[in-house]
Amino acid sequence: MSQARPTVLKIGGSVITDKSQELGVRMDAISRIADEIRDANPRNLIIVHGGGSFGHPIAQKHAIKEGFKEENQIIGFAETHHVMTVLNGLFMDALIWRGIPAVSITPSSCTMTQKGRIACFEDTPLKQLMKMGFIPVLYGDAVFDAELGFTILSGDQLVSFLAVRFNVEKILIGVDVDGLYDADPKTEEKAKMFEHLTLKELKKVHGRLGGSNVCDVTGGMFNKIAELIPALEHGIPVLIVNATKPKYIYKALKGEKVKGTLIEKE
Ligand code: IPE
Repeated sequence: MSQARPTVLKIGGSVITDKSQELGVRMDAISRIADEIRDANPRNLIIVHGGGSFGHPIAQKHAIKEGFKEENQIIGFAETHHVMTVLNGLFMDALIWRGIPAVSITPSSCTMTQKGRIACFEDTPLKQLMKMGFIPVLYGDAVFDAELGFTILSGDQLVSFLAVRFNVEKILIGVDVDGLYDADPKTEEKAKMFEHLTLKELKKVHGRLGGSNVCDVTGGMFNKIAELIPALEHGIPVLIVNATKPKYIYKALKGEKVKGTLIEKE
């Protein structure tokens, strides 16, 4: 039975999928990250992964985030949820066959949102499995919404929610760039990376942080980080690191020094 305060690790969809092609998976990245999680052997971990080229294009095609408006969307919701379970299965495969006791928790089956915000989360099984030393793995998903019928729940909103509910020690966000920049580092040559930000500073640079230019129904980098504000306000630090670079996730899990952006309340 594990007593340490948990860490939440989010692996962005851009790390484990190829956003340039629909349903493009980066098995090499999934395998390497699973190796790093096994080697770091964290005591108490919650994993959340994104949707990348699995969830986003299908959700966008059927306007799932906007809610139920017409019958044709019903199959679109089912497809979006299904491809997320497929991506999750690939990630689970990599974890479990390395001896990591990971158990998948399907967000659409334990969460209800209200206008896109988590309104109810059934956490009894999650608590039990964590108490027993399992590692829960959740993901951004198509979920049911009390007002909209259905919507998309981003992995980032889930991360922040779980971090507060489980009073975690820290949040690690693995993305495909080195940290949080004042402009999109993929298009702006002069983009500057923040090494450290307080919550106040984060709010100040709000307007300047770039959105994502590829298909992303849950917002670009800034919106993703803005989702973490409730956790930051709770005093939980957030470290954003490049998960496409070998050993970064390993080092971050071990608490070793690693390049990235650290955001703290004060
Ligand atoms: C998106 O989750 C899930 C779906 C579109 C179904 P995220 O918003 O957390 O995914 P990434 O990390 O941006 O790919």
